[in-house]
Amino acid sequence: MSLLIKGGLVVDPAQGLEQIRDLLIQGDKIAALEPPGTIPGQGRRVVEAKDLVVAPGLIDMHVHLREPGEEYKETILTGTRAAVRGGFTAVAAMPNTRPVNDTASVTRYILEQAKAAGLARVYPVGAISMGSAGRNLSEYGDQKAAGAVALSDDGHPVANPMLMRRALEYARTFGLPIISHCEDLDLRGDGVMHEGRVSLELGLEGIPAAVEEIMIFRDLALIQLTGGRLHLAHVSAFGSVALVRQAKEAGLTVTAETAPHYFHLTEEAVKGYDTNAKVNPPLRTAADVAAIREGLKDGTLDAIACDHAPHSTLEKDLEFEAAAFGLIGLETSLGLSLKLVHDGVLTLTQLVAKMSTNPARILGVPGGTLTVGSPADVTIIDLNREWTVDVNTFASKGRNCPFNGWSLKGKAVATIVGGKIVSSEQ
Ligand code: DOR
Repeated sequence: MSLLIKGGLVVDPAQGLEQIRDLLIQGDKIAALEPPGTIPGQGRRVVEAKDLVVAPGLIDMHVHLREPGEEYKETILTGTRAAVRGGFTAVAAMPNTRPVNDTASVTRYILEQAKAAGLARVYPVGAISMGSAGRNLSEYGDQKAAGAVALSDDGHPVANPMLMRRALEYARTFGLPIISHCEDLDLRGDGVMHEGRVSLELGLEGIPAAVEEIMIFRDLALIQLTGGRLHLAHVSAFGSVALVRQAKEAGLTVTAETAPHYFHLTEEAVKGYDTNAKVNPPLRTAADVAAIREGLKDGTLDAIACDHAPHSTLEKDLEFEAAAFGLIGLETSLGLSLKLVHDGVLTLTQLVAKMSTNPARILGVPGGTLTVGSPADVTIIDLNREWTVDVNTFASKGRNCPFNGWSLKGKAVATIVGGKIVSSEQ
């Protein structure tokens, strides 16, 4: 089977390419990338991509698919359906399932379910510690052999610095990155939103930015000690961006991601006690949003990952203090991120790097480029398609989205995984 994607603006940061090209897919690989009109369409399925962007398949390196164990919130099938609709050809699945993914058998189960779904690729992230309980390391060799691409206790910090030291050392021997959820639980206390003017007004317990910064500082000190590979999850604060910038200047082996809600929303979104805006780390101030945007622009923040965290009404239709942390993002992430391009914060090439090339590099997975011979994972994007976010149309089971009703410009119109069109709106 061969597929010709004709006349699109091919954006491939790995090749420094942003030009009109025809892209030929043969089987499950990229077979040719040539100037327009040079590859014959005869006998091939042709997709017209005039006025569209053709990008390497987007990769979201931080999602919660909730299977096994919480299938009422999301399954691998519904989560990957949401992923491909949102333009993602691959996602990395965090291990805070039930049971926690701390053993090879859970990783294998996730991969089997993903294969049966046949939509986006799923890269399991194994737990750093057994049960993500922060006491004993899990078996990294076994997890890697089963298909885990990184390790994280996401949802929980690794509170004990000695355990984190050993995790960085142990993971290093297997070439696996440690994805750190940076949060000092003692300092967080009973906090439920950012600590500041709005928490005061609402009478809610606050979470200061120092809760995140302290742990980032500790983890940076630990990679200096161990030489391990550290990736920081969901960076949300001004001070955190400054710490990562400084660490990168000093040559430390750190990478970092942020999420669309941290560059579009502030603590104001919590007003009215909207539990859809309850997320951990919390939505912060306009100064934090500005710092996150600056960090994306200057390369301090390598990746945009949405931290898709579906919850049901059982966890969200509650008083604010009792509701679960988390919001969904797979079907809005691209539209919200493209806003940065429309607003002149990022170039298109920078955006594709943060949503495809860099996540592939950080996780050490194939894809993230359209070079000949690469997997045929492609996202076709209409930069000008205007649409309104409506949670009731989502493929995800989650409805916990603070962007409902937003008008966005830019959408994935086709998602191709391994040469197969798995989602199309053309
Ligand atoms: O808001 C969050 N929700 N933050 C996390 O770290 C975990 C996530 C979840 O699993 O619901």
